[in-house]
Amino acid sequence: MPALIETDSLSKHFDGLAAVQRVSFRIEEGRVAGVIGPNGSGKTTLFNLLSGLFPPTEGKVVFRGKDVTRTPPHKRVEMGMARTFQLVSVFDSLTAWENLVLSNNKFKKERQSVKNFFFASAQNKTTLDDCLEALETVGLQNKASTPTSELSYGDKRMLEIGIALSLKPTLLLLDEPFAGLSDHEIGEVLDIIYRVKKNFTLGIIDHKISKIVDLIDTLSVMNYGQIICEGDPDQVLCDPTVRECYWGKEENTCSM
Ligand SMILES: Nc1ncnc2c1ncn2[C@@H]1O[C@H](COP(=O)(O)OP(=O)(O)O)[C@@H](O)[C@H]1O
Ligand SMILES: [Mg+2]
Repeated sequence: MPALIETDSLSKHFDGLAAVQRVSFRIEEGRVAGVIGPNGSGKTTLFNLLSGLFPPTEGKVVFRGKDVTRTPPHKRVEMGMARTFQLVSVFDSLTAWENLVLSNNKFKKERQSVKNFFFASAQNKTTLDDCLEALETVGLQNKASTPTSELSYGDKRMLEIGIALSLKPTLLLLDEPFAGLSDHEIGEVLDIIYRVKKNFTLGIIDHKISKIVDLIDTLSVMNYGQIICEGDPDQVLCDPTVRECYWGKEENTCSM
């Protein structure tokens, strides 16, 4: 199976700290890749490098067969990469609908000039259809005109996922989509992911394995900036190195 996204010996140093060290990571087309690891192990930094939030210190990122190592984030979105953040990132001063339309007009190729990017090009029917469909998928259709500042944290997370979905990504990267949510809200987010995952390739970070173990096809475990084990989730979870670094602090779901 070809890789949709692939890194080669990717590293990121922050002022001497190696947040990501020589990571070669790939997600095959149509698959769901899980990334777990203790806090500070480099999971978010890896996704930041994949999505282009900052450049790597060393190594490269290849997306859809093209070297995108120096490609800015908005260009990667245009190429079909969307992501959500560990801390929800939507504009509180706008309504849910405005957040969706704004992001679509900002990122989609058909956007017009910066001057009328806000609502003028929202006349574009595809954009409106994509926004409406995404709003319904995440169950926020009745809250379209609610100011985002009045949405619950769970709804904001849904909105952020809705924005990513409305961009019709080929690759969706979710950084701890369950962080800060109640068990009920986690169930809702999982339902949405299961419903839509056939439409794209998915990378998902979680702090705990139990929520995502049934969702993922492959599992990579990070520790101190490196991928210490990867492959079939059941086998990875039973790997002695993984158990040593991870369990004890986390739940042990090795069932082999
Ligand atoms: N923008 C940044 N500037 C400086 N240090 C950072 C930055 N982002 C992450 N780090 C550091 O890199 C390490 C890995 O962080 P992170 O990727 O957020 O880990 P995780 O997502 O696994 O919890 C941590 O030590 C963190 O403090
Ligand atoms: Mg993180």
